[in-house]
Amino acid sequence: MELIKISGLTKRFSGLVAVNKVDLSLNKGEIVGLVGPNGAGKTTLFHSVCGFHKPESGSVKFKDEDIMGQKPELICKKGIARTFQIVQPFGNLTVLENVIVGAFNRVKSFKTAEEMAIEQLEFIGMSSQAYSRMKDLTFPEQKKVEVARALATKPEVLFLDEVMSGLNPSEVNEFIELIKQIRDSGISIFFIEHLMSAVMALSDRLAVMHLGEKIADGNPKEVMENPFVVEAYLGGEITC
Ligand SMILES: Nc1ncnc2c1ncn2[C@@H]1O[C@H](COP(=O)(O)OP(=O)(O)OP(=O)(O)O)[C@@H](O)[C@H]1O
Ligand SMILES: [Mg+2]
Repeated sequence: MELIKISGLTKRFSGLVAVNKVDLSLNKGEIVGLVGPNGAGKTTLFHSVCGFHKPESGSVKFKDEDIMGQKPELICKKGIARTFQIVQPFGNLTVLENVIVGAFNRVKSFKTAEEMAIEQLEFIGMSSQAYSRMKDLTFPEQKKVEVARALATKPEVLFLDEVMSGLNPSEVNEFIELIKQIRDSGISIFFIEHLMSAVMALSDRLAVMHLGEKIADGNPKEVMENPFVVEAYLGGEITC
């Protein structure tokens, strides 16, 4: 079943077409990877789907309902959660409080929100740091907490924007397992990542953007052998 259907999405910044008529879909239970050189438009596409940018044209459907142009908090309530490439922590709050903010998307009671947040911190293996200040965490740790905060909103779909940047190889492997567990818990996942080993380990399907356009979409191995994709990356940064 198609959960998200992006059709002909275009987002401009003044003269720059950052996302150009992109079609992309996400099926229930799927993990879809999105790659492309720096500035390709990947984050702008995520922002446009999640309500942080207003696209000029196209449509975004979530379970057949047109959600394009709706406010981020409403889109989150409908069941789409995301993390940010540039982490957006509440630095002076504790780790637990940061995750509680996510849980308030579903519940009003502080106690219930706290229980939901603790559950997510246990899930990502960070409950021992629940009472640390967010600003005292390392960058990769903050990224993990962002995942917990997104999960605490109880989404059906999770958008992850470069959650593995800055992790060492064993942390990357842990994160790959974590993302698989998230999918096994019934959440469908769209993720942007530069680290190709993680992309290949996780993606059921892989899409590539270049200069605002989607240039490939399909079986990950076939996509990475596609001459247009190889060309787009020539001189670029495929990191394995
Ligand atoms: N708020 C903005 N205002 C103006 N231009 C923007 C804005 N956000 C992004 N852009 C431009 O849009 C283009 C696409 O940027 P985007 O951040 O979506 O790329 P990306 O594929 O996520 O790149 P990266 O891999 O470096 O994160 C770039 O040329 C960028 O400079
Ligand atoms: Mg980006």
